[in-house]
Amino acid sequence: MADRLVISKSGPLRGTVTVHGAKNAVLPIMAACLLAEEPSIIDNVPHVADVISMIEILRRLGVQVAFTGDRLVVTPGRYDGTVAPYDLVSRMRASICVLGPLLARHGKAQVSMPGGCVIGPRPIDLHLKGLQALGALFTIEHGYIVGTAKALKGARLHLSGAFGSSVLATGNVMMAATLTKGTTIIEHAACEPEVIDLANFLKAMGARVEGHGGPVIRVEGVARLHGVHYRIIPDRIEAGTLMIAAAISGGDVTVNDARPDHLGAVIDKLCEANVTIEKQNGSIRLRASKPVQAVDVTTLPFPGFPTDVQAQMMALMAVSRGVSVLTEKVYPERFMHISELNRMGASIAREGSSAIVKGVERLSGAPVTGSDLRASAALVLAGMTADNHTELSGLEHLDRGYQNLEAQLRQLGANIRRLSQAET
Ligand code: EPZ
Repeated sequence: MADRLVISKSGPLRGTVTVHGAKNAVLPIMAACLLAEEPSIIDNVPHVADVISMIEILRRLGVQVAFTGDRLVVTPGRYDGTVAPYDLVSRMRASICVLGPLLARHGKAQVSMPGGCVIGPRPIDLHLKGLQALGALFTIEHGYIVGTAKALKGARLHLSGAFGSSVLATGNVMMAATLTKGTTIIEHAACEPEVIDLANFLKAMGARVEGHGGPVIRVEGVARLHGVHYRIIPDRIEAGTLMIAAAISGGDVTVNDARPDHLGAVIDKLCEANVTIEKQNGSIRLRASKPVQAVDVTTLPFPGFPTDVQAQMMALMAVSRGVSVLTEKVYPERFMHISELNRMGASIAREGSSAIVKGVERLSGAPVTGSDLRASAALVLAGMTADNHTELSGLEHLDRGYQNLEAQLRQLGANIRRLSQAET
């Protein structure tokens, strides 16, 4: 049996906790390092499995990577490889974001087709559409996307899909455009803070990018980019998870290095649910002294309510007063956590891309299994409020995106510990 977490009923969380750097910002930024020949230094990098996977991919491409403390030093060579292999890409879908940089820098790339995952199909049509607009050609051979780009040329392109824009497709096209002759206009670009962070990193490398954070991004191609020293933004999803941990425990917690401007929709919904939130400079204080009320939530691309906080919000609504409807407009299948929460005594019914959550008095601890990164976090939060003990297995999902979540929660007073394989 692999590692597991034992979470026991915990009292109100109290104290302060600091957020790590954003996993979803650092992954495309690591890929962006491929655009320069010189080394880049990246600070505030979280120790999570997805970062380790991306390090592996860069090393397979012939890039030197050193990871000490929260600092990454990435040193691309003059002629790095251009193949991102199946065994690594299948582990982490975000590997697709090496496609744009490899095509722009080397004119060719082979990236294994990323698999689907439990939150739903993970198509890459928008990535290919955007890069094809710049002149890239693609074939699918033996499970690999094989891309060639004799001479990329700036173009106006449109990135909207059935579920809005695409965060990593916006990143892929923006990265490729920085070394593409001419002007590229990306219409219906993703507006997530992680896209802004990537654009700021590219600008620090000497790229000419404007409009990032809005729906139209303009890139003027340049001949070459240089290495930089850059600090990653804080992880808004980790911050949202910690805020909901405070709310579900009826606690009083200050989350340091959290950006209120990245969490507007989450703050808005928690206030509507009767939680008191104080925005201080660089931190957010959350107090849940009153009973939490049920609220309806619909996930949307930024600045809407983030899909990556939907499962955690469902855990809170499971023990709130009233009935809430949670609707997924980004990943309509992202409801694997419903069955696990119901095993803990929640009363949640799935209706297509919505979940109807009837708040219950209390949950009861049970052995549960994480299915994806954010569903696992939701089960940790539910375990803290449930009677008796909850044993969470499948920690490989949680460890993909959280650096020692149990230590952060324990520091706030939660009854939670990690048991290794051998321990009973
Ligand atoms: C990023 O994934 C995040 N991952 C996801 O976080 C996050 O849930 C997602 O953005 C949405 O915010 C990273 O940044 C590493 P999308 P990404 O392309 O870019 C559809 C987590 O928990 N789509 O914005 O892959 C897609 O199916 C992870 O940290 C297409 O149709 O997501 C989805 O419905 C999970 N065609 C919607 O767009 C495409 O070519 C948004 O996906 C690409 C996407």
